[in-house]
Amino acid sequence: MAWSWALLLLLLLPPQLGPVLALRTPGFGRSGNHEQSPEENEFIEEEPVLVLSPEEQVPGPATAADCPRECACSQEGVVDCGGIDLREFPGDLPERTNHLSLQNNQLEKIYPEELSRLHGLETLNLQNNRLTSRGLPEEAFEHLTNLNYLYLANNKLTLAPRFLPNTLISVDFAANYLTKIYGLTFGQKPNLRSVYLHNNKLADAGLPDHMFNGSSNVEILILSSNFLRHVPKHLPPALYKLHLKNNKLEKIPPGAFSELSSLRELYLQNNFLTDEGLDNETFWKLSSLEYLDLSSNNLSRVPRGLPRSLVLLHLEKNAIHSVDADVLTPIRSLEYLLLHSNQLRARGIHPQAFQGLKKLHTMHLYNNALERVPSGLPRRVRTLMILHNQISGIGRDDFATTYFLEELNLSYNRITSPQVHRDAFRKLRQLRSLDLSGNRLHTLPPGLPRNVHVLKVKRNELVALARGALAGMAQLRELYLTGNRLRSRALGPRAWADLAHLQLLDIAGNQLTEIPSGLPESLEYLYLQNNKISSVSAHAFDSTPNLKGIFLRFNKLAVGSVVESAFQRLKHLHVLDIEGNFEFGAASKDRGRLKEEEEEEEEEEEEGMEEEDKR
Ligand SMILES: *[C@@H]1O[C@H](CO)[C@@H](O)[C@H](O)[C@H]1NC(C)=O
Ligand SMILES: *[C@@H]1O[C@H](CO)[C@@H](O)[C@H](O)[C@H]1NC(C)=O
Ligand SMILES: *[C@@H]1O[C@H](CO)[C@@H](O)[C@H](O)[C@H]1NC(C)=O
Ligand SMILES: *[C@@H]1O[C@H](CO)[C@@H](O)[C@H](O)[C@H]1NC(C)=O
Repeated sequence: MAWSWALLLLLLLPPQLGPVLALRTPGFGRSGNHEQSPEENEFIEEEPVLVLSPEEQVPGPATAADCPRECACSQEGVVDCGGIDLREFPGDLPERTNHLSLQNNQLEKIYPEELSRLHGLETLNLQNNRLTSRGLPEEAFEHLTNLNYLYLANNKLTLAPRFLPNTLISVDFAANYLTKIYGLTFGQKPNLRSVYLHNNKLADAGLPDHMFNGSSNVEILILSSNFLRHVPKHLPPALYKLHLKNNKLEKIPPGAFSELSSLRELYLQNNFLTDEGLDNETFWKLSSLEYLDLSSNNLSRVPRGLPRSLVLLHLEKNAIHSVDADVLTPIRSLEYLLLHSNQLRARGIHPQAFQGLKKLHTMHLYNNALERVPSGLPRRVRTLMILHNQISGIGRDDFATTYFLEELNLSYNRITSPQVHRDAFRKLRQLRSLDLSGNRLHTLPPGLPRNVHVLKVKRNELVALARGALAGMAQLRELYLTGNRLRSRALGPRAWADLAHLQLLDIAGNQLTEIPSGLPESLEYLYLQNNKISSVSAHAFDSTPNLKGIFLRFNKLAVGSVVESAFQRLKHLHVLDIEGNFEFGAASKDRGRLKEEEEEEEEEEEEGMEEEDKR
């Protein structure tokens, strides 16, 4: 039948091609508007999508006649009764229905004969109803000998059906209250490919010992957000995706993963795994594993015996205090290493810990206790996030071998000006983005990398830019000096002389008394809010004809001290913000508010990082 072929084809296609080649019909995939659950992403990621090719969508006259009231029957055998507030199973369904959607209704109970007469069913979508285990007639499934897809997510099931047809390809029980699975719920189903069980109440005792006996083709098993303490035994060898996050795993029994040589993606984050719960062979046989997430556990070391095939390794949010010499070095494919929010000190990282990891390009070390830049950074690292540590200085050779670094974020450390070696950045010719915000610099350090596009030095104690600090930075697009103690006399016109591409300059929250002079012609956005600027002269913007936005909120401008013609020549200007000036009484109140806003902004930044952690 054309239908099954279309289906099969789509299941075999890589997911990103699906939507391009096919048109999704609402109501038949797992894509219903069920309530948001923490595993929402998995609904989106994993869902097998049932599709119709466009020409098949034309409704045939033959089906219109026996289509139940309020349902849509777009073609032979396809009945969509989704989202019509049904409280009872429709009694008048054509017997030859193949694809039935009843999602997003209020069904509590289905009688066995209602279901068993539909023996041609291939797809049954019941997700997002109120079905309980008592209301679901398990004996009826015996008659559905063509059933391939069964969607029961977002119901009130407490026990899985004891028996499901052996023709099943995909089963979804996510977001129910399941405490028990039986041997033939998923066992003896040679075609079964994917099983979704996340957001249930399954504990170890609720799973049968050989849950997938006779179902050796299962490729996707999602068991996240349950109460499992052990990894289930005898997992099907064809698995390529296994999600066990948000459980109560403490230990992974020896051999639990030893048959899974096709596994590519293993999610174990947010459990209680400790060093003792793993051994050096736990992951060893996973020879296809590319993505391993062990974040938010209780590990204190990087586990030994990780597979060499790993590309992405999540170890953040543990209690890791050391990375030994040879635990990571065999993982030659490693590209992303996420170690943030641990307890790493610089001496806990062995100088050879990253040796030879030529593909490693992204490393997150933020939120640790590093008191200096660790030695032996991977040579090809391009992104290094090392913010929120306790680094107090940058030595001459800290970045002497990381020639490929493009993004370096050192914000929120304790770096002081005398502790930045003037040659510290000499090798960083590829660096595009440098963030030194939230440190204790009192001058902009000399020897900054010349090719950066974005330089952030917000919230330091800057009173001056060292002479020539910005010299030669012809690539600089954005410069942030927000929240320092800069006065106008510290910013002579020579300071900007080389910044031929500067588009954004942010000096908000300093102590400027006038608009800086000699700003580059390329400048488009100038942020000067919350300073002490008291006048705008007629020639203030002569050197910057391309300005699009000028922000002068909360300064000390008085009526009469602003020469309006200064702005008239700015043909591209579309934002001029001078609120919070002119009336000194109200201004002090507004200042208070600005401070709050800034603090909020800071919190948001931090939250942003948290968000990233979660991903
Ligand atoms: C697996 O299924 C076969 C029948 O196919 C049965 O003989 C065997 O006992 C089952 N094994 C387990 C461990 O349940
Ligand atoms: C794991 O450690 C044991 C004993 O320390 C050793 O015999 C074994 O070879 C190690 N296995 C791997 C895969 O490194
Ligand atoms: C894991 O760590 C958390 C916090 O660090 C602690 O509360 C919990 O008791 C630890 N659990 C185990 C099993 O060690
Ligand atoms: C450095 O990291 C912080 C926190 O994630 C972020 O807000 C900031 O934009 C980063 N700096 C750069 C230059 O990207």
